[in-house]
Amino acid sequence: MASSVEKAAGAPKAELHVHIEGTLEPELIFQLAQRNEVQLPWASIQTLRQAYSFSSLQSFLDIYHVATRVLVTERDFADLARAYVERAQADKVIHAEIFFDPQTHMERGVALETIVAGLEQGLKEGDEFGFSSRLIMCFLRHLPESKALETLEQALPLFSHYPHRLIGVGLDSTEIGIPPRTFERVFAAARRAGIEVVAHAGEEGPAEYVWDALDALQVSRVDHGVASSEDDDLVDRLVREQIPLTVCPLSNLRLKVVEDMKQHPIRSLLERGVKVMVNSDDPAYFGGYVNDNYAAIINSLNLSGPQVFQLLSNSLEACFMPAEWKRNALSALTNYWHGT
Ligand code: ADE
Ligand code: ZN
Repeated sequence: MASSVEKAAGAPKAELHVHIEGTLEPELIFQLAQRNEVQLPWASIQTLRQAYSFSSLQSFLDIYHVATRVLVTERDFADLARAYVERAQADKVIHAEIFFDPQTHMERGVALETIVAGLEQGLKEGDEFGFSSRLIMCFLRHLPESKALETLEQALPLFSHYPHRLIGVGLDSTEIGIPPRTFERVFAAARRAGIEVVAHAGEEGPAEYVWDALDALQVSRVDHGVASSEDDDLVDRLVREQIPLTVCPLSNLRLKVVEDMKQHPIRSLLERGVKVMVNSDDPAYFGGYVNDNYAAIINSLNLSGPQVFQLLSNSLEACFMPAEWKRNALSALTNYWHGT
């Protein structure tokens, strides 16, 4: 009989927390640097990989934002998206909701239209072979809300132009010291425009920030949210309101949110009834794509078959696809899992 790790690897699944810039592999960084004549602070792929030894979220973001400088043209964004689709399909991802950070590119003079058109080009090729995907535009939390408001205003025509792809806004980057409510106005404007809203909260920051994302930003899904496990009232609320948490185990380990995978709270959150699932966050930096994340927690936390099935079905239920799509995807998963 196949092990749980092998069974999970072959199962249809959704990935709901992956930053497209975080899928930029070192080889592609150097290839694009050469194509666009961008100077990098690393002499080789090997020295870049050696820099991937992080002590905190900020120590990672400092490298991540420098590496994204190689992304300049529509073709670069298309190549990046295409590479992710190929990698995700190998892990049996059937649907992905993908973050991108436009402000980091716009600060360097890349137009928002270039970014979205390039990503669309790469993802459209995925549509043709059955890989479904959506884009979620993130605001950078280390920049002021006024910049996020300007970005949303510029993006609204693109939300109308790409309604099949661009569906949501999110909030990412540095967390500690910047509560979600700082972005209350821009999230209210996005909701008024009928856009889905999610936010990173409770990754390095406290459970209080998860309350804040729910109350002030009114998000329908929380990214990471692992700090929720320390607050019983919050766990009760997440269960009652069926708010999903998009958990990223290898990211939490690499960024020292947890010291040891054996201490990761995903199993206890799952056992308490929270709708958690497994995602890769920034797979090129954290040692693995979504199936590597499943393997890490199945092995370290000794998850049972039914628990793994629950994580997989949560990924399909928590996505922003229509009810009929979800029914079909869940029945494909059930048939696979029970071998019919
Ligand atoms: N941007 C890319 N990865 C991130 C993470 N794990 N947390 C916050 N912002 C991010
Ligand atoms: Zn993230």
